[in-house]
Amino acid sequence: MKNLNITAKIQIYNYNELQPEEKKLIDCAKDACFRAYAPYSQFQVGAAVQLANGAIVAGSNQENVAFPSGLCAERTALFYANSQYPDQAVKSLAVAAYTQGDFIERPISPCGACRQVILETEIRFKCPVRIYLYGKTDIYIIEGIGDLLPLAFNSIE
Ligand code: THU
Repeated sequence: MKNLNITAKIQIYNYNELQPEEKKLIDCAKDACFRAYAPYSQFQVGAAVQLANGAIVAGSNQENVAFPSGLCAERTALFYANSQYPDQAVKSLAVAAYTQGDFIERPISPCGACRQVILETEIRFKCPVRIYLYGKTDIYIIEGIGDLLPLAFNSIE
């Protein structure tokens, strides 16, 4: 018997330690929370994507009374970005969440389906996606989806 021990590298920053362009991307994700349609969960999530050409594209969670028909902020932003700019690599993605009148203290992390889409984005553009998960206290920075989705399913690489 052998063990396969998997580790994830996650750096924890606070807002003031970030570079101006990193703050800008996070601010875009925070703004996008206020454009969420989340009447069922009251949990408003915003995501912002930075592309290779410098464009920033934001998205928010869009819910539906038939629950599986809604979409997370991350996939809304990524699909919208790739629809607008199909030839531009995604360099980074920031995620923020707002509920009960405030931004959350510690970050949330993308769901499994969003992780799978981020993986495909990395493979499609042959470029790691730097992930910023915003919380008021801690901001997690993750260099690529491999740290959030080890042993990923990938039949197209
Ligand atoms: N949600 C996101 O948009 N992104 C995440 O990373 C986690 C969850 C949404 C889905 C649903 O609309 C609401 O948050 C509550 O789960």
